[in-house]
Amino acid sequence: MAANTGRSGIGMQGHWVVTGGAGYVGGHVVRALHRAGVDVVVVDDLSTGLAGRLPAGVPLLLGQVGDRRVLDACLPGAGGVVHLAAQTSAPGSVRDPLAHYRANVGDVVTMTSAMAEHGIGRLVTSSSAAVYGDVPGSDRRAETDPLHPQSPYGTTKMVGERILADLVVCGLSSVALRYFNVAGAGTQVLADNKVGGLPLAVLQARRTGEPVPVHGLDHPTPDGSAVRDYVHAVDVASAHVAAVELLLAGSQGAAVYNVGTGIGSSVLDVLRVAAEVTGGPVPHRVHGRRPGDPSHAVADVSAIARDLGWRARHDLRDCQHSAWEASGGPLPSHAGGRLVATG
Ligand SMILES: NC(=O)c1ccc[n+]([C@@H]2O[C@H](COP(=O)([O-])OP(=O)(O)OC[C@H]3O[C@@H](n4cnc5c(N)ncnc54)[C@H](O)[C@@H]3O)[C@@H](O)[C@H]2O)c1
Repeated sequence: MAANTGRSGIGMQGHWVVTGGAGYVGGHVVRALHRAGVDVVVVDDLSTGLAGRLPAGVPLLLGQVGDRRVLDACLPGAGGVVHLAAQTSAPGSVRDPLAHYRANVGDVVTMTSAMAEHGIGRLVTSSSAAVYGDVPGSDRRAETDPLHPQSPYGTTKMVGERILADLVVCGLSSVALRYFNVAGAGTQVLADNKVGGLPLAVLQARRTGEPVPVHGLDHPTPDGSAVRDYVHAVDVASAHVAAVELLLAGSQGAAVYNVGTGIGSSVLDVLRVAAEVTGGPVPHRVHGRRPGDPSHAVADVSAIARDLGWRARHDLRDCQHSAWEASGGPLPSHAGGRLVATG
């Protein structure tokens, strides 16, 4: 479907379809694949995505993953699929579980059925650290740990992985990437446009003066606040390139890898780094712990380092700095770091 661009990089066996390629993670992934010499065709309904995130020359097929006509238009001749489109909110999945099951389970079935019919046997997909849930007494999550998702969202991602494992007998080779907390921006246009994650919320608090909530200072962690593994979107993107390379090299079966830094940062660390990056304190207010909120969720990244030769190159400061720059950078000097209109 797409012409080979002649860029150097991964040897080509057809174009790769990237669903959700206009999204926050997708925009970074598409750019990284494009740079690696992969011909990419994006399928996106732009429900949360932005067409402006796509590099010039990357075709966008505007439509839904659940629509077979859309898949039948882009799959013929494809070398593989990177499936990122999803319903992505854990709290939202508690309010509307069916929307999450339809998108994150139903669309995986539709996609893999269509791939089988078109003879396409390589798939890289987004999973999430939400599949682990809270594991009391365990700091680091390894791929072999038991899974106890605590939201419908986490359950849908776990079921999505199981579908891919069951389809190995049908000839599907897959890599599911369990991202931890994705943050940062490769460029301004690629920045996250969703609200919800702590790193963006603290930066927003610096601009607006509205205190960001800190959920609990009584966690069993060194400073009492919850610990997470923040991984830069640029690093998440390079993990996808490594996964595509693995599949193109002939890897078979259903692999699952954590994508994180292996380093834990507490909520208070995020506030401290944001204060350094933005040049002033972040207004915050301490609330009680949220039920089901894990105290400590950090990736064991030994498997992805061993099998894919991948490791994160950016730290929390890089995440915060790039997101701050992407959101407009320094506050006006007269603002004194408080109560500033976002503009
Ligand atoms: N951002 C994170 O921290 C994080 C962490 C773990 C896992 N993930 C997973 O990564 C993937 C991407 O997340 P994101 O943060 O980039 O979200 P996003 O909302 O920015 O991107 C999702 C993209 O998919 C598109 N889309 C949604 N439903 C679609 C459909 N039915 N058909 C076609 N396109 C559709 C949207 O328009 C958007 O471009 C998701 O699978 C998400 O569950 C994200």
